[in-house]
Amino acid sequence: MVTTLAIETSCDETAVAIVSDRHVLSSVVSSQIDIHRQYGGVVPEVASRQHVETVNWAIAQALEQADLPWDGIDGVAATVAPGLVGALLVGLSAAKTLALLHQKPFLGVHHLEGHICASYLTEPTLESPFLCLLVSGGHTSLLHVQGCGHYTTLGQTHDDAAGEAFDKVARLLDLGYPGGPAIDRLAAQGNPQAYALPEGKISLPQGGYHPYDSSFSGLKTAVLRLTQSLQAQTPDLPVADLAASFQATVARSLTKRAIACALDHHLSTIVVGGGVAANSGLRQHLTAAASDKGLRVIFPPLKFCTDNAAMIACAAAEHLAHGRRSPLSLGVQSRMAVEDVLKLYA
Ligand code: KG4
Ligand code: ZN
Repeated sequence: MVTTLAIETSCDETAVAIVSDRHVLSSVVSSQIDIHRQYGGVVPEVASRQHVETVNWAIAQALEQADLPWDGIDGVAATVAPGLVGALLVGLSAAKTLALLHQKPFLGVHHLEGHICASYLTEPTLESPFLCLLVSGGHTSLLHVQGCGHYTTLGQTHDDAAGEAFDKVARLLDLGYPGGPAIDRLAAQGNPQAYALPEGKISLPQGGYHPYDSSFSGLKTAVLRLTQSLQAQTPDLPVADLAASFQATVARSLTKRAIACALDHHLSTIVVGGGVAANSGLRQHLTAAASDKGLRVIFPPLKFCTDNAAMIACAAAEHLAHGRRSPLSLGVQSRMAVEDVLKLYA
């Protein structure tokens, strides 16, 4: 049994969790959304300061909820990449301090590996290989998961991430921040077939289209143009129909690529991770398409789709079980390929 305490501060959630193998003993998430909402997005400096103010409270809460003495904790982890550098540094400094103080191994964790591991928390028997559709605010990737720390990117977006597209479209429809949940709620009242929107495709030099890569910036521009032309015709913008049509287009695009990629690579399980995994349109569409093809699809519960520390603690526990730990000289990185995860460990 490997028990880890992890701190996640890569963006606008201060989160601390304790996980024992793949079982969550405690998970505390303090969201800064209400603070950043007034600016229409995350302000890095504000995020860092807020993490400093909240992290000690979150650590105390996680320890209290798990009701575990330090003797029961085998390692201390923090997200070290990718993310906002100032924000990551807060979690890193706190985790290193705790590791030194309590003489525990320290582990730096790649945020995207956390999103991959989120599904282990409800499917503890899940084993690689599988395909991971990773859809967050900063990333949209199809990853071949070969084992703990062994990942290959098979497909990715060439411009906006899926979550970024949700956030930008929500902004242009005046739905506020964060956009994903707002569009999801509104789409439930709209007609997904109301407007035909273009699915972004990536051309190949030899002709045809890339089967797994995606693009969302053209779709966002199409929604903008359509919105402007509708505004010229009517004072009552059909926002629910626009939200539903946009969401259905994203869900179709992601589903098509994930299914093709899984079948081509003989992977019978698709695991979804990241904030957009919470999207009800994607959940319905992908579940139905996967079942048609005889594929298994796993979505984490909503609380583990968006940023949390339980997924980071889970990734750390997997690495610690493989005998890996990070040097205390490890720093943070705003960008880092998920293929390079093993560079974090000695
Ligand atoms: O994984 P996450 O919490 O943070 C990153 O690592 O980026 O993902 C945040 C993203 C945001 O873009 C947010 O709008 C989107 O996930 N999101 C959703 C939903 N909930 C969160 N997008 C669509 N539908 C949702 N229900
Ligand atoms: Zn995330």
